Amino acid sequence: MAVRVAPSILSADFASLASAIDLVAPETDLLHVDVMDGHFVPNLTIGPPVVKDINRHTDLELDCHLMMDNPGQYLEAFRKAGADGCTVHVEIGGTAELIEQMRSLDLRVGLAANPDTPFDAYESFIDQVDLLLLMTVFPGFSGQAFHPEVVPKIRQTAEAVRARGAAAVIEVDGGINQSTIGATAEAGARVFVAGNAVFGSEDPRGATRNLRELATAAIAS
Ligand code: DX5
Ligand code: ZN
Repeated sequence: MAVRVAPSILSADFASLASAIDLVAPETDLLHVDVMDGHFVPNLTIGPPVVKDINRHTDLELDCHLMMDNPGQYLEAFRKAGADGCTVHVEIGGTAELIEQMRSLDLRVGLAANPDTPFDAYESFIDQVDLLLLMTVFPGFSGQAFHPEVVPKIRQTAEAVRARGAAAVIEVDGGINQSTIGATAEAGARVFVAGNAVFGSEDPRGATRNLRELATAAIAS
């Protein structure tokens, strides 16, 4: 299964998004868009109008991470704006209905779990989703330190996906950098969100390539 690095624009300069995206586009096909509502997490970011403009600017797939209490109200707007996939958090409840809604909108279906949310909370949805996003920081801000205690949960989830013959891909998000990506890849993650490690770097394009190469090497070893 291909390794994908999804640069998170949360760490980019919002006044120069187009050029930030152009910097990483040669090295990836996926862009991570963090949507925060000021309720589910104590921060506010962007919504469908910005996704629409990003989509007009780039061919990269848009992976929208909805850190919101009420994503159901906005899924259609994100789809219309050009989101390819949306990820909702299991902690807010109503997961079965949200999955159904995303399917009916032809969105790639993602389900996210915070670092302290146990495997049992999302186990029953494993074969209904395309993406399982395991947070390796508490959501809300970029540039936080990786939580290594999530690694066993990544491994447990990867084993469950395999045992069920499910199609879900495991994505990790938060504190992913050159030092932490290997452990998550080895545990079973295949999509790697990176904010600070990409856009905080002098060379976002090279950092994206380097992360992909490190993950690929960790899986092969
Ligand atoms: C955190 C967001 C992340 C964030 C990652 O709430 O979901 O996507 O941008 O940033 P880094 O890689 O800097 O932890
Ligand atoms: Zn995110």
